[in-house]
Amino acid sequence: MTSPDIVRRFTDRLVVVTGAASGIGRATAARLGSEGARLVLLDRDVPGAEATASAVRDAGGQATAHMLDLSSETSITEAATEIKAAHPRIQGLVGCAGLVHVDGSQENPFLERGLAGWDLLFAVNVRGMAQLVHELVPALTSGRGTVVTVSSEAAYRSRAGRWIYDATKAALVSVTRSMAAALAPEGVRVVGVAPGGTITEMHLQDHDDPEAARARMRTATGSNLLGRLAEPEEIAAAIAFLASDEASFMTGTTIAVDGGGAGSR
Ligand SMILES: NC(=O)c1ccc[n+]([C@@H]2O[C@H](COP(=O)([O-])OP(=O)(O)OC[C@H]3O[C@@H](n4cnc5c(N)ncnc54)[C@H](O)[C@@H]3O)[C@@H](O)[C@H]2O)c1
Repeated sequence: MTSPDIVRRFTDRLVVVTGAASGIGRATAARLGSEGARLVLLDRDVPGAEATASAVRDAGGQATAHMLDLSSETSITEAATEIKAAHPRIQGLVGCAGLVHVDGSQENPFLERGLAGWDLLFAVNVRGMAQLVHELVPALTSGRGTVVTVSSEAAYRSRAGRWIYDATKAALVSVTRSMAAALAPEGVRVVGVAPGGTITEMHLQDHDDPEAARARMRTATGSNLLGRLAEPEEIAAAIAFLASDEASFMTGTTIAVDGGGAGSR
């Protein structure tokens, strides 16, 4: 689903992408790489991030892959220190890394499992991203960069089974607004996307046959106005717009990219 007329809005711009080993992060790396960005790709799945970097380079782009575990303050500091040393000016930071599973399950019902997974999900989905942004502020300020957070339509839903994940995504919408206020005087924009259901490994890893599950997801109707789920490239396209100068008057906002899901409920 790549546009035939892709422009090159990121030529010579240094963009950091977390969660680049898989799903929306991998699609974002491919999109930004095709538009000329120099990419620093981060993930706890280093072989996966290496594979994405290799695919970007094979397509003519520039990318390196590095370890990042957002559940570890030490890992975040190490990654940020390495990035700042190599790249004192960065123009973009896209936070695609995210976690929905606790102990192998996407469902962690409030009544049955209580707060199991609270600390881990908040560490990965909220705290880790906030720490990474904070540590990269000098480089983002020097580069007049843009931060893009990846929340979810889940931020606005009421689900007993995924209540902690949903809360992390609501928190990220708030953090996006607050960081935008803090960083506007530094010349740094902070914006977010809230995707609807998207066909990625996040939903496929529970299945014995992930490719059969992917095919089923492609024919699923989805609870939105368009009646289908998103491909990760469609979320990446919105992220690329927000990270580009075309969104120069946007900050603090989180835009829905959900097939009209928010409007259909
Ligand atoms: N797929 C969807 O339906 C959907 C919908 C709305 C929002 N989102 C959000 O989009 C983002 C990307 O999701 P996806 O569907 O591509 O998922 P995915 O599982 O395919 O990719 C997530 C990536 O994050 C990485 N990651 C997980 N924990 C990490 C950690 N501790 N440190 C560093 N990296 C870590 C994983 O290794 C993986 O590469 C997530 O924030 C997710 O919550 C997804």
